[in-house]
Amino acid sequence: MAASLDGKVAIVTGAGKGIGRAVAEAYGAAGATVVVSDLDGAAAEAVATGIDGATANTCDVTDEGQVKALIDGTVDTHGGLHVLVPNAGIARVQPLLEKSLEDWRAVMSVNLDGVFLCTRHGAPAIIASGGGAIVNICSITAFAGSPLVGDYAAAKAGVLSLTKTTAVELRDHGVRANAICPGFIDTDLVTANAEKFESALGLPAGGFDEVIAQKQGRYGNVEEVASLAVFLASERSSFSTGSAFVLDGGADASLL
Ligand SMILES: NC(=O)c1ccc[n+]([C@@H]2O[C@H](COP(=O)([O-])OP(=O)(O)OC[C@H]3O[C@@H](n4cnc5c(N)ncnc54)[C@H](O)[C@@H]3O)[C@@H](O)[C@H]2O)c1
Repeated sequence: MAASLDGKVAIVTGAGKGIGRAVAEAYGAAGATVVVSDLDGAAAEAVATGIDGATANTCDVTDEGQVKALIDGTVDTHGGLHVLVPNAGIARVQPLLEKSLEDWRAVMSVNLDGVFLCTRHGAPAIIASGGGAIVNICSITAFAGSPLVGDYAAAKAGVLSLTKTTAVELRDHGVRANAICPGFIDTDLVTANAEKFESALGLPAGGFDEVIAQKQGRYGNVEEVASLAVFLASERSSFSTGSAFVLDGGADASLL
């Protein structure tokens, strides 16, 4: 049986490490030609080197000119675009009342504006290539109040809303759009912030890991997110669009 993404061209942003890297690698293994894009060009290069046929790209997703260049460059180099994964994201861990407008805007800019810019410039290229899929990397924080990352959660709620509008507006153009909503996944985004969570929540050292173990059993791993991202990019999910796919070890299933 042919790999599920044979003949597809895919862009993954923020793919220099973490979830984006795992998605890029899984797409390559599934037969796609992958553009590994990141703000950190050296990290993108290192990841692309390990994926057959992949190319690396340096792009800040908050910069419209750079996003447009990413899309145009992909079409020029690889002949089209079928799958787009706006994955780049950041978090700043602070109580709401300590956040500055600058902090708020920085998080909104990467996590929400970045998805809009990728969609705005990427979707026309997908349509011109005969259709495809947008797989937004959202979060379970889109559904609930999220202490210390209120800006991040608001941005992710925006990503979920944007995913639904994208799905509805583009359905007749052959573009599906879905949102993956992971719980806590073992990446630098989480581990680098664990001590800040512990200090702000009054937890002892290691207490954050215990909260995660209680809520979702364990951290998710990046391959588990990538596996769902392959499904949502492929024709195997052909009737799925406008949906949120939660991946959280059951955290959302329990009040306690
Ligand atoms: N790790 C989790 O628990 C978790 C849970 C839910 C959702 N997510 C989402 O998954 C996505 C990836 O997160 P991760 O955990 O892999 O984070 P990570 O910090 O490991 O990797 C993020 C990558 O994004 C890149 N990046 C940052 N700002 C950028 C910009 N302006 N333009 C382009 N690239 C930029 C970084 O260089 C880095 O390579 C994010 O959207 C995040 O919100 C993560």
